[in-house]
Amino acid sequence: MSRILVTGATGRLGQLLVEQLVARNRPVRILTRRPETARKLFGTTVQIAVGEFADRYSLDAAIRGVGRLLLLSPISERLAADQIAVANAADTAGVRRIVKISGSDWTIDPPGVSISGDAHAAVEQHLRRLSIESVSLRPNAWMQVSLANTIRQVLVGNPISAANPDAGVGYIDARDIADVAVHQLLAETVSGTPLILTGPGIVTPRQIAVLLSTILKRPVALVERPPSALTPDGDFEHRAVAEFGRLIAAGRAALTTDVVASLLGRPPRSVGSFISEQLAIEAALAG
Ligand SMILES: NC(=O)c1ccc[n+]([C@@H]2O[C@H](COP(=O)([O-])OP(=O)(O)OC[C@H]3O[C@@H](n4cnc5c(N)ncnc54)[C@H](OP(=O)(O)O)[C@@H]3O)[C@@H](O)[C@H]2O)c1
Repeated sequence: MSRILVTGATGRLGQLLVEQLVARNRPVRILTRRPETARKLFGTTVQIAVGEFADRYSLDAAIRGVGRLLLLSPISERLAADQIAVANAADTAGVRRIVKISGSDWTIDPPGVSISGDAHAAVEQHLRRLSIESVSLRPNAWMQVSLANTIRQVLVGNPISAANPDAGVGYIDARDIADVAVHQLLAETVSGTPLILTGPGIVTPRQIAVLLSTILKRPVALVERPPSALTPDGDFEHRAVAEFGRLIAAGRAALTTDVVASLLGRPPRSVGSFISEQLAIEAALAG
C-alpha cells in the first residue's frame, strides 16, 4: 500500500483527514513545521517529516517514496507559490495522484472576484499541466468556521450579525470534506474535473436565528451590518475574508450539489445536526 503525504495535516481539516486515513490503516506521512504539536496530535500513528513549503530540500525529503498526496495550505499571499512548489516536488518524485483542497467554487469562478480563489485557480491550472493524475475539491463554506463562530456568539448573548440576513449559504461540514478527500485519495480513479462540495441545503442567517431561538427556547436577535470594508492595504487573509463576506452577501454561496451523496452513498451532514452537536459540546464545556 503506497504511502500518503498530507500537507496542512495539523490544521482544521488536515487533522480530520489524517485521523480517517490512520483509522483505515493507511501509511501516512505528514509535513509540518511543528513536530511536537504533530506528535501530540497523532502520537506514533504517522511519520512526521519536518519541513516547510518554501524549503525544497525538506519537500523532496518529505515526498520521497510517496504514492499519493493530499495538498492543503492556508490562505496566504504564498498559497499559489507554495502549492505549486509541492506539486513540482511531487512530479519529480513520481507521485501518482494529487488531491487538492481548493477554494469554494464561487471564489474561483468567475475569475477576478477573490484573491484567494484566483490563487487556488492558478494551482488547479498548474496541476492540469502536470502528468500526475489530480483532482481539486472545491468545498463551500465550512460549518466549523463561520457557523461555529455564530453559535458561540449567540451563546454569550450576542445577536447574529449579517450583511444580508437573507443571503443563503450551502454550508458543508468539514468532516464531509475529509470523507470525500479520503475517498478520492483511495479510489481506483478520479474524475479530473473539480468537485464542488456542499451540504444538503441552503440556510440564511435569518433561518439560523429562528433555528437557534427554537432550540435555545429564547429569542435570538439578528442585526444587519454593512459588509466589512475592503482594505487594499490589509494583509492577504483579511482582504480574502472581506471578499468572501461580500460574495456571500451577494448570494454567491447559495448553492448545493449532490457530489457528497453520490461519492459517499449517504447524504452530507446538515446544519441542524451540526448546531445540535455544537450546542451539546459548548454545554459540556460550560458545565
Ligand atoms: N474555511 C472555509 O470555509 C474554506 C472553504 C473552502 C476552502 N478552504 C481552504 O482550506 C484551506 C485551509 O484549511 P484549514 O483551515 O484546515 O487550514 P489551517 O487550519 O489554517 O492549517 C494550516 C496548515 O498548513 C500548514 N502550514 C502553514 N504554513 C506552512 C508552511 N510554510 N509549510 C508547511 N506547512 C504549513 C500548517 O502546518 P504546521 O503549522 O504544523 O507547519 C497547518 O497544518 C485553505 O486553502 C482554504 O482556501 C477553506
